Amino acid sequence: MPTPTRSDYTFKYNSKLGRHGWLRLTPAYSVKLVEELVSETARGSKILDPFSGTATTGVVAAELGFDAHLFDINPFLIWLGNLKCTVYTAAQIHELQQRVVPRVLEDYKQLVLEKNWQPDIFNIERWWCGHTLPLISALHAAILLHCGKPDGTGPENLLWVAFSRLIIETSSAAFNHVSMSFKGGVTRYEISQIESIFSAILDNVIVSAQAELVGSSKIFLCDSRNPVSQEDSLYDHVVTSPPYPNRMTYIRELRPYMYWTGFLEDAKEAGDLDWTAIGGTWGSATSKLKTWKNEVAGLPGQLTEIVSRIAASGDKNSDLMAQYVFKYFADMHLHFSGLKNILRSGAKLDYIVGNSSFYGNLVEAEMLMEKSLISLGFTDVGSRVVRKRNSNKNLYEYCVSARC
Ligand SMILES: C[S@@+](CC[C@H](N)C(=O)[O-])C[C@H]1O[C@@H](n2cnc3c(N)ncnc32)[C@H](O)[C@@H]1O
Repeated sequence: MPTPTRSDYTFKYNSKLGRHGWLRLTPAYSVKLVEELVSETARGSKILDPFSGTATTGVVAAELGFDAHLFDINPFLIWLGNLKCTVYTAAQIHELQQRVVPRVLEDYKQLVLEKNWQPDIFNIERWWCGHTLPLISALHAAILLHCGKPDGTGPENLLWVAFSRLIIETSSAAFNHVSMSFKGGVTRYEISQIESIFSAILDNVIVSAQAELVGSSKIFLCDSRNPVSQEDSLYDHVVTSPPYPNRMTYIRELRPYMYWTGFLEDAKEAGDLDWTAIGGTWGSATSKLKTWKNEVAGLPGQLTEIVSRIAASGDKNSDLMAQYVFKYFADMHLHFSGLKNILRSGAKLDYIVGNSSFYGNLVEAEMLMEKSLISLGFTDVGSRVVRKRNSNKNLYEYCVSARC
């Protein structure tokens, strides 16, 4: 029987699930899958997700009564993740709704008459039309005036979440591919439409932000190629979905959110940040990749074979893609090697990862990760297919598991 594509094991399943549906990040993994993995964990265990993304693991762990630590290198995702893992009281929400929101909406209508800041996004009118852009800028200015910049987990940050969602809903971004693309054209919105879309999103965010979380999760800035224990913790269960070796870059996916919320200012910053990401090849990260030299010892022999086949495939980008795959697995090897220092003996590892293909050469991510884990002394190493991806007949998602 063919392996099913299981859309309940993708981010599509998450969109209506309270906090999980706040912002759409294509590479977010499925809540259902994480619930299944976390449910296997013994009570009182400390969970780690070294690749937090939108903090799906953190929210699920806290919902199921666990404590979790999550790492990421992207400051926007760290901010968002910590907000998603915070419960707001009725009094905080009352204050927000009675005092802050009405002032923001009142000033928005005034500020529309002025010229306001807009971010330095390349070709910005491809995202929002020249009529809608000033309206979004005015709303941005009004939120900034009453809530300050997005920072920490105070309740006023919820307006920035709603604003982030609004900019995507009113943009020409399309989500019918693995990564974000553009719809045919931009839509024109009027002052009152922006207000009502924003208010409706905010109402949803506010309702879910009060939902109970039994456990607690925190997201930390930490490069998982050199993972560092937080608050002297030793972790019992690693539940995560690292970047896949498929050239998806999170900075590219997140740039509209990150520019508007001030977490990115220019293309240079974007490239520099992506260079710290495993699998990052956005902007200047690509030129750095060209001259990158491996310094990680003990990599699986099969990696050298796969990399050589990609390099020999005769495309103008073959050498670059070969470097990309090489560095991706060298970084993952570094990650696994550092992880040993922060895990309790006997800790379980569950990594959801997809394989990929470059010029017809299959990159068996699950096999290469298994080899890395075995060579680093992890035990019970194995993998199972989670789902088939619909994009190509040889592409699957796996759960790679091991014990420390
Ligand atoms: C596939 S996404 C995780 C998605 C997440 N499971 C979710 O449901 O939203 C991978 C994440 O790893 C992060 N990342 C990439 N390189 C990293 C590194 N060196 N250290 C920590 N996080 C990193 C990226 O910023 C991205 O958020």
